[in-house]
Amino acid sequence: MSKDAKHKHKHDDVATAFGIDIGGSGIKGAPVDLSSGEFVGERVRIPTPRPATPEAVARTVAEVVDSFDLHKHVPIGVTFPAVILHGVAQSAANVDDAWIGTDVAATVGEATGRRVLAVNDADAAGYAEVAYGAAKDVPGVVLVVTLGTGIGSALVVDGVLVPNTELGHLEIDGHDAESRASDAARDREDLSFEQWAQRLQRYFSVVENLFWPDLIVVGGGVSKKHEQFLPLLDLRTRIVPAGLRNAAGIVGAARLAALGGPV
Ligand code: BGC
Repeated sequence: MSKDAKHKHKHDDVATAFGIDIGGSGIKGAPVDLSSGEFVGERVRIPTPRPATPEAVARTVAEVVDSFDLHKHVPIGVTFPAVILHGVAQSAANVDDAWIGTDVAATVGEATGRRVLAVNDADAAGYAEVAYGAAKDVPGVVLVVTLGTGIGSALVVDGVLVPNTELGHLEIDGHDAESRASDAARDREDLSFEQWAQRLQRYFSVVENLFWPDLIVVGGGVSKKHEQFLPLLDLRTRIVPAGLRNAAGIVGAARLAALGGPV
């Protein structure tokens, strides 16, 4: 992108951080105002390169970052759909296997020439929901579950994130839970919302019996259609749609990068 095409704002004040969501189909980034959790200006999206190897993805992330005129010290956080331990991807359920063992933070850091924090996508979303969204000011145990290509989970206890819970891979009735209850499964099997809700009922019943959360927040793109499935669920736990919808990953990654942790 030419220099003239860069977005005009200069985001160099300390209350701003940059969040990037690395997904299967798109890599999206935006500067985030940390006091409100809102985007400062527009979000940029570039399709995920194929094959989505670490190098190709890191180059695309750099393109997203370079399309903004960011001060070099603006904290940068990236989400990734895998277990992330100290910046390194440990799993690859729905991404290229080449990512296993890759230091996501370092690879993106090199490509962008900046210091980067990497975090599991659902953890980022969960953290944002607690800071700014549906779980704000909710004490106790909050479980954020994202329904998308896979099922992601974030466990937050009194505002502290317990990273990498991976509850999408609980084995339920002999199946990897996300293979039956993700939004991709609904799509793949052409399930009605009523049929899908039966699978979600089974999934969330197991989850609430294991964790006894005070609140469950449901995120992912399909949370826009929450009226079509959440009212069909009969759970002990209060269950609500995500407040930030799909922006949650970007916002949470930006906030975690600014605070320097906890992952
Ligand atoms: C991955 C998780 C991820 C979730 C949502 C799962 O398949 O194992 O790490 O958070 O999908 O993308």
